[in-house]
Formats: sequence, C-alpha cells, structure tokens
Amino acid sequence: MNNLIKGLNLYLIGMMGSGKSTVGKLIAQQLGYRFFDTDDLISQITGKSINEIFATSGEAEFRDLETQVISELCAYKNLVVATGGGIIIRKQNWSYLQHGVVVWLDVPVEQLYNRLKEDTTRPLLRDPDPLGKLKSILSDRQKMYQQADLHIKVATEESPDALATRVLQEIPKVLKPESSNGQVS
Ligand code: S3P
Repeated sequence: MNNLIKGLNLYLIGMMGSGKSTVGKLIAQQLGYRFFDTDDLISQITGKSINEIFATSGEAEFRDLETQVISELCAYKNLVVATGGGIIIRKQNWSYLQHGVVVWLDVPVEQLYNRLKEDTTRPLLRDPDPLGKLKSILSDRQKMYQQADLHIKVATEESPDALATRVLQEIPKVLKPESSNGQVS
C-alpha cells in the first residue's frame, strides 16, 4: 500500500463531526505518514480558537486562513490531512487538494447531529435548529463532496479502526497503475 501510494497526500473531507481527525490519525499511523488538521493549524498560527476567529474576524477571514494552510500543506508529501468541513467550498482549494487523494467520509446527518449536539466548538452550528442547519449545509455542499476521489459511506456504529482499515483498502482502487507514479485516476 505504502509503495502504491508513493508519498501522495491523503485529504479527508466531509461534514463537521464525520470523524476526519480521529480516522485520519489512525490512517497516518498505518501508512507511517504525518498527520495534520487544518483547523488546528489555523488555531496555532493565529493563537485563536475557531470560534474566536469567526466571532472577531468573520468567516471570510477564516476561509482565507484555510486556503493559506492548505496551499502550504500541499507542498509536502507523506501527509494525512483532516480538513475543515467547508474547505471544499472554494474552487481554489480544490487545486491544492487534487495534488493528493481526496477521501469523503460521508456520515448520515442524524449521526452527525448526535455527535455534535453538545458541541460548542462549531460556530456554524450556533443556531436555534442545529439539525436543520446541518441538513442545509450538507445539501449546499453535497455536490462538492461528491468530487472526492473516494466516497466512503460510513455505516452507523462503524468503529474508527474499521473505517480507517476500509479507507486503506479502498485507496488502491483509485490510484493509477505503478507506471504512472501513483497519480490518482
Ligand atoms: C466548518 C467545519 C469545522 C471548522 C469550521 C467550519 C465548516 O471543521 O473548519 O467550524 O464550514 O463545515 P470540522 O469539519 O473539523 O468540524
């Protein structure tokens, strides 16, 4: 597997609460890759939480930081990157993501809601109707998530380990043969 993937970065995309960071860390361990989370990097660079950035500078400033971070990460190899759920909104970000293998963790919206209903760290879910908000965000983004190289439909109750294993099993199917140097087909 490690041979096949030849250092290509893996970018995990998907909605808030889809498990990108948890699963991403497990995949990175298996591949001997380094793991990064774009939200964590943004917080490190700014010294602010994601909530603070949204509250003090606004979403547009956050999206600029997100683009800056992903543009810098794509210069490296051997990375698993858990991206923020909205990274797929900007076309420019796709030009960076497409250097690697893009994996969509597609989790049913009710499950996302159950995971996030007590969460206070997602500014976009500060809404009187968080389930409705999740559904509307997903419906706006569905077409963009579908542009992933690999679409992983997550079954309810599938453990992070099982999911990581499944992602690793599926990746070779979307890689071009060895001769083309591990490019995504
Ligand atoms: C966002 C998802 C969050 C974070 C920010 C905006 C989104 O990341 O980037 O709150 O637009 O979906 P996670 O997907 O890691 O929760």
